[in-house]
Amino acid sequence: MSVNPASQRSESGSKEAHDDADHCTKILQVMERLSQIKDVQALLAEVLLHARRLTRADAGSMYLIENNVLNFSYIQNDTLFGASEVNRYLYSSHTVAIDNHSLSGYVALTGKPLLIDDAYHLPPGMPFTFNDSFDRLSGYRTQSILAVPLVTSHNKTVGVMQILNPLNDDRQTSTFTPGDLLLLKHFADNAAAAIERAMMTREIIMRMIQMCELRDPKETGLHANRVGAYAAEVYHQWSLKQGIADDEIKRNKDSLRIAAMLHDLGKVAISDLILRKPDKLNSEEFRIMQYHTIHGARLFRNQESDLDVLSAEIALNHHEKWDGTGYPGKIDDIYQDQLRFGQGKRGEEIPIAARIVALADVYDALVSPRAYKDAWSETTTLSYIKDQSGKLFDPEVVHAFLAIYDVITAIRGKYPEESSPSSPATSS
Ligand SMILES: [Fe+2]
Ligand SMILES: [Fe+2]
Repeated sequence: MSVNPASQRSESGSKEAHDDADHCTKILQVMERLSQIKDVQALLAEVLLHARRLTRADAGSMYLIENNVLNFSYIQNDTLFGASEVNRYLYSSHTVAIDNHSLSGYVALTGKPLLIDDAYHLPPGMPFTFNDSFDRLSGYRTQSILAVPLVTSHNKTVGVMQILNPLNDDRQTSTFTPGDLLLLKHFADNAAAAIERAMMTREIIMRMIQMCELRDPKETGLHANRVGAYAAEVYHQWSLKQGIADDEIKRNKDSLRIAAMLHDLGKVAISDLILRKPDKLNSEEFRIMQYHTIHGARLFRNQESDLDVLSAEIALNHHEKWDGTGYPGKIDDIYQDQLRFGQGKRGEEIPIAARIVALADVYDALVSPRAYKDAWSETTTLSYIKDQSGKLFDPEVVHAFLAIYDVITAIRGKYPEESSPSSPATSS
């Protein structure tokens, strides 16, 4: 059968046009989804996942520009770990200078995308070298790389996205094409605005926590970051065991990390005489301090978003205990003037998000040095947590926490306590 080259061209031309339209529709749908995500980590997860789907890339990583360096911020790698798994690589911490010495530094510096067929045989004349440390550590073999800058519409570079090893139909590694590069560049330009917005939200949250720290130096941004990350990952592990759908896990995790960071925001309403008292609080003072749960919940009284609802729930309930001995207990109306604490909520009467934050908060208090105590050793802390399973803590939450303990320690490594022991003094 003879083939007419012109009709072949026009057929393939119309197929390409159809593919392009298809890609554009997909990108628009993804953008709509991205605009609803509040947390930076949750957003990076979604951006990277869709970038990889568009190009069939096996793996990828994201770097965000913070304090004039590229900060490692997210990773996915289908060969090494599933996209829906909780994994410790997410909390690796390293930075890359914005200069010609590294591949991502070069992309951030020049604003030019890069398409590399083989990372181990770079084309001559490239000013940078390929850093193979991740391959050496993990046993992964990076081959083809596509790296693009994340540039907003007002020309600000917020980071670099790098994807690796596209897979063909037989799941063999092939190489990226110039078409992949155009597609990824278009997607990255759109995603950059959403990433910048999420970074600004995170800045505002951190400033709220810093305001709290000005009142009470024991409440630090590092503690808040750790508690937010522990809570998000423990929730992820817990919900996988519950068989919760992937989309719901993602949505809840997005809000939970931020809401957990704000657990003690209500302390801004407590008197300096109590917050800054160097000695142990007497029972009257301790009772006043316990009202930070109510003040925190009231801060989110408008409850206009899922995040408001969850933040109020966590602020109110993060000192409730599984066995019913916590506070503030059951209260009909937290907005009434002469409010009295009720009988402690027990078991599943306590919302799951608060059960998770309760463990995350206590764990962080125990393993961190405090003004009045040294940090507990890991062995002592873990045996205390196991002992308190079913008493202070929900046994299933303890189980999820222990199952991802390598991730928990990676989070501590990402947000390390400064050497001066002026960190949070209580988990109140
Ligand atoms: Fe706390
Ligand atoms: Fe608290």
